[in-house]
Amino acid sequence: MLARRQGSTLYDTEGKAYLDCVAGIAVNALGYNDAGIQQAMGEALASGMVHVSNLYHTAPHARLAALLCETSFADKVHFCNSGAEANEGAFKFARRYGRAHGDDDKVEILAFTNAFHGRTMGALAATPRPKYQDPFKPLMPGVRFAAFNNVESARAQMDAAVCAIIVEPIQGEGGIHAATPDFLAGLRALADEYDALLIYDEVQCGVGRTGTFWAHQGVL
Ligand SMILES: Cc1ncc(COP(=O)(O)O)c(C=O)c1O
Repeated sequence: MLARRQGSTLYDTEGKAYLDCVAGIAVNALGYNDAGIQQAMGEALASGMVHVSNLYHTAPHARLAALLCETSFADKVHFCNSGAEANEGAFKFARRYGRAHGDDDKVEILAFTNAFHGRTMGALAATPRPKYQDPFKPLMPGVRFAAFNNVESARAQMDAAVCAIIVEPIQGEGGIHAATPDFLAGLRALADEYDALLIYDEVQCGVGRTGTFWAHQGVL
């Protein structure tokens, strides 16, 4: 049971020291007691605006949305509470898009071997690992899979029923597997050809972790 931290050393409740080589976990590698994070949290607490419903905007909310748009191809931002929830939201946007651009059958999601998209029911259905999926079956229907880094495998799974392709530009939990430029470009072309959306899951690899602000920018 961890009790305190000094530099990169963590101490448990019995005083035993551990060298911290991970600074958090997977998507949350922010370390402990980061001065900038503490300051931002302190300012949020002091402002009395720690939680504001999605009926309203705040200035930090708008600044963050602008940063995310300016650094990417996006023009709108939907905030959520976790990576899994972000992917659930992306699937909902995609199915809505599919119905608007196709018919009621355009609801299928194409995901890849070794992917990890989260543990909620929709995200889990796109995470093809028995260890995570088997205890919780039946899964959300409408997800198909192709081999990561294999455009022809993806092509073989594409048809008019696919509303979105979801891919990690660098797979995290599946091992550190980077997508090749040809693979990402091929997925973009397939998505365009079948009028499907292309979802980059950068929950673990994005936001400055790989040298470019978004991981796909370093791949392409
Ligand atoms: C690529 C990817 N997507 C989604 C998730 C799920 O994020 P969260 O744990 O915040 O729900 C993770 C978590 O490790 C992840 O690595």
